[in-house]
Amino acid sequence: MRLPLVITLGAMAALAWLASSHADPQPTVDYPQGFTRWTHVTTGLIGPGNPAYAHFGGFHDVYANAKAIEGYGAARFADGAVLVFDVHEAKTVQDAASPGARRLVDVMVKDRVRFGSTGGWGFAEFPAGAREPQGLQPANACYSCHATREKQDHVFTRLSD
Ligand code: HEC
Repeated sequence: MRLPLVITLGAMAALAWLASSHADPQPTVDYPQGFTRWTHVTTGLIGPGNPAYAHFGGFHDVYANAKAIEGYGAARFADGAVLVFDVHEAKTVQDAASPGARRLVDVMVKDRVRFGSTGGWGFAEFPAGAREPQGLQPANACYSCHATREKQDHVFTRLSD
């Protein structure tokens, strides 16, 4: 009678170990609800001649929450800062361009503990309409490019006066 109990306990321990090692894979980034009402930082337009066109082509608007706005001044962002890169296709009618349908929403969330391996920022991509991150690029692809702006805490844009 003793042996099966030992085996059962062993199996349970193995299962618990498996569960714990798989329970917390990548820390996640939440969809930034209501971000279009945050502070608008800048707008850009990426056209067909740009190498980034396939993925990021069209108009993009950058939005910052209140903590991120404080961070721009110091070029250091506190935990809780969130930045959003909101991409819409560009419609052109009679040489007048305007934003069309949303293509994707890219997000950076500052949390030094959860995202320590990527400069303290969590990166995620939400294709239009998605509320779960499902970007084509893994987070480290985002980070490798943003790391070129390490001196500005991995942020490219600046807040204009
Ligand atoms: C090849 C380089 C490159 C890659 C890869 C890249 N970005 Fe960016 N990102 C930029 C540039 C350049 C800007 C600034 C655009 C501007 O000035 O209008 C930017 C801006 C941003 C911003 C606004 C804050 C800032 O840095 O100015 C966010 C948020 C963002 N990107 C998130 C992401 C996420 C999430 C990914 C991965 C899914 C990603 N980026 C991949 C180059 C990149």
